[in-house]
Amino acid sequence: MAYDFIFKIVMVGDQSVGKSNLLLRYTKNEFDQFSKVTLGVEFASKFLKIEADQQYVKAQIWDTAGQERFRSVTGAYYRNAIGALLVYDITNRNSFESIPKWMKELKEHADPNIVMILVGNKSDLKEQREVKHEEGLKFSEKHQIAFIETSALNAGNVDIAFKNLIHEIY
Ligand code: GTP
Ligand code: MG
Repeated sequence: MAYDFIFKIVMVGDQSVGKSNLLLRYTKNEFDQFSKVTLGVEFASKFLKIEADQQYVKAQIWDTAGQERFRSVTGAYYRNAIGALLVYDITNRNSFESIPKWMKELKEHADPNIVMILVGNKSDLKEQREVKHEEGLKFSEKHQIAFIETSALNAGNVDIAFKNLIHEIY
């Protein structure tokens, strides 16, 4: 398919926060309850039409493991990325507390002007929530980035999260 722009977007966040499932939901509208740790780097693409001026964007989204021992290619992973999803799991406070570490890694390895969105995933697990919506919002305001809560399981806000980021880059 022809396109006018290609945007490289990277997903970062601790292990098991749902990065691979967000990508799967966005690009294939699927969910994998038994998904395994991502080994190496995986990619998926999606074409998007910017309605306002009839331009097509190819979003090339990169996914890797949250856990250090499964990662190998930090430099190549971040190179030329112009957007990033900083993902945590709303039922796992540690994953939220890791977000500054992921921001730091982006700042060190990616373009300083990279556009970020903070994503609190697993919003379907309301009973197990450990991170309040307000906490995510407050963090995002402090760092002047967008914020959204998503569910890869029930698809809530997944499209909007990627679309917002892509529109912000564009
Ligand atoms: P790594 O590759 O190890 O870094 O993990 P990841 O961030 O890619 O997580 P992954 O997508 O593999 O999901 C981890 C687990 O959480 C899997 O059992 C998923 O089925 C589950 N999961 C992912 N997203 C959601 C969600 O939105 N809601 C619920 N309830 N479970 C989810
Ligand atoms: Mg994964």
